[in-house]
Amino acid sequence: MKQTFFITGTTKGVPLALVKILLSQGHRVIATVHHRQPEIQAELSITNYPNLTLLHLDFTDNTTFLKLEEDLQRLGNIVIDVFISHATLNKPIESEPLLETAYTTYVKYFQVNTLGPLELLKVIKPYMVRSQFKKIILTSSALNDKNSKGQVRGNPYTIAKAGLSLIAFQLSEELKQEGFIVISYYPGLHKGCDGTDDTAMEVEEAAGAELELVDGLTLEQSGLYLDHRGNSLNR
Ligand SMILES: NC(=O)c1ccc[n+]([C@@H]2O[C@H](COP(=O)([O-])OP(=O)(O)OC[C@H]3O[C@@H](n4cnc5c(N)ncnc54)[C@H](OP(=O)(O)O)[C@@H]3O)[C@@H](O)[C@H]2O)c1
Repeated sequence: MKQTFFITGTTKGVPLALVKILLSQGHRVIATVHHRQPEIQAELSITNYPNLTLLHLDFTDNTTFLKLEEDLQRLGNIVIDVFISHATLNKPIESEPLLETAYTTYVKYFQVNTLGPLELLKVIKPYMVRSQFKKIILTSSALNDKNSKGQVRGNPYTIAKAGLSLIAFQLSEELKQEGFIVISYYPGLHKGCDGTDDTAMEVEEAAGAELELVDGLTLEQSGLYLDHRGNSLNR
């Protein structure tokens, strides 16, 4: 059955691969981009993909949600089946001691990686309530899993992502009665990620694994923190 996916952060990597796979399967995709890169906009154009709507989103701009609301209203009577949150402030791992990390740095990471997806959900949830699928995927990081070793877990990126995982858990409780499935998701190490080698997955493989997982999600799994293989990372 054809569905409508709302995906953020689609300028490159796994999110871009997701968009292309879904469109090739005949689904409708509403994709958001941060920086308007002409080559991406040309590639993901309505001419190439009639089922695609490309919207602008910048979590650091307070007017972005209002603008998005207007953009969605213009699309008419749409139903969004699946929301996949990939947009992220993802600078190379910083290992500054917490006490030496600037307050403004934390604010920016929380704005983009934690509160941005939550505020966005406030805008798009009304478009999801009529869906029979109602799936919300908040992409997190395995670095906030206590079992991850040898990597910096206490940087602003990871701390903000840990907050997003908790939001997914809380939302799963709050939205259960309405039939929403909410998970926190770790996409696995893939090419293009920091510190990966040749053994890392191709982005298309990571995107395929993600879509397979999303397709099979059940209400019983709501609230879990799952990786691309379907393993639970919950403590
Ligand atoms: N890659 C990994 O190693 C890895 C591992 C575990 C989890 N993840 C998670 O998987 C997801 C995708 O990872 P990725 O490596 O593909 O991320 P990425 O390459 O850093 O892409 C992040 C996306 O977010 C957008 N973005 C950045 N700032 C934004 C803002 N202020 N408002 C709205 N959008 C903004 C970027 O747009 P611009 O490029 O235009 O700024 C880009 O499209 C992320 O949630 C990440 O945390 C990744």
